[in-house]
Amino acid sequence: MGMTITKLSDHTGAEVTGIDLTKPVDAETQARLNQAFAEHSVLVIRDQHMDPHRVLTAVQLFGEVFIQHNTRFALPECPQIHYISNQDKFPDGTRYIPGEGYHTDHSNDARPPKATVLFAVTLPDRGGDTQYVNMHRAYETLPAAVQERIADLKAIHVYQNSHSTRKLMGLTEAAKERVPNAVLHPIVRTHPETGRKAIYINPIRIEGILGLSHTEALPLLDYLLEHAVREEHQYRHRWRKGDLAMWDNRCLLHKANGDYDMNQLRYLYRVMLKGSVPN
Ligand code: SIN
Repeated sequence: MGMTITKLSDHTGAEVTGIDLTKPVDAETQARLNQAFAEHSVLVIRDQHMDPHRVLTAVQLFGEVFIQHNTRFALPECPQIHYISNQDKFPDGTRYIPGEGYHTDHSNDARPPKATVLFAVTLPDRGGDTQYVNMHRAYETLPAAVQERIADLKAIHVYQNSHSTRKLMGLTEAAKERVPNAVLHPIVRTHPETGRKAIYINPIRIEGILGLSHTEALPLLDYLLEHAVREEHQYRHRWRKGDLAMWDNRCLLHKANGDYDMNQLRYLYRVMLKGSVPN
């Protein structure tokens, strides 16, 4: 049976069936997969059977592996692959749900990862979906006056900003030395493969906007986020065991949902792919 690519919603996401990524993939199939990724922003490759090393090999069909900032989640047997689990706790004993709250990954890097890939190993019986927001659609549906207002603005991205209510797990000492203190990225970025514009914001990482006071910047960022996350811009992914899902951090926000029975394990492998300087 050949590979089939089917849209998952009218604006975001496609599922891929009929391919086993543990087998060699020819150049034509690789090109189709990369084209589908650029077009649909989320690719869900179904029914895969993979250990971390196989995930690592498979994702290199789409690009080079990006070294994730917080090495505390690296798998000892394959450190470029990290894990996502609902069983970790903050130092104060409260549960840590990685990725709760809309964000785009590692935007505090000068070259943020173009893609993040998760492989579903163990899932709760229900819940734990990942929600995506299409930031092209969000940009394109902004009033023209707002598009003009944000056209040349640059945001200051840090590991964790001073005003977000969401908490991140602290960086290890070694990671602190590698991770930049602050980087500037445009609030409107152009997708390097499709040429489409997208809003590029990150509620937990943007400390402020260059040249604007907090009293000007924060309401503007809140407005952009509220506009972006409207239901009509969302695709909600309900995971199946064996899904290898990858998403485009250049034009999406995403969040994990901690809405399930926490006595059940939710465990996925996670890896990212290198991106370019946003512009
Ligand atoms: C993430 O934000 O990378 C994790 C998303 C998820 O667990 O659904």
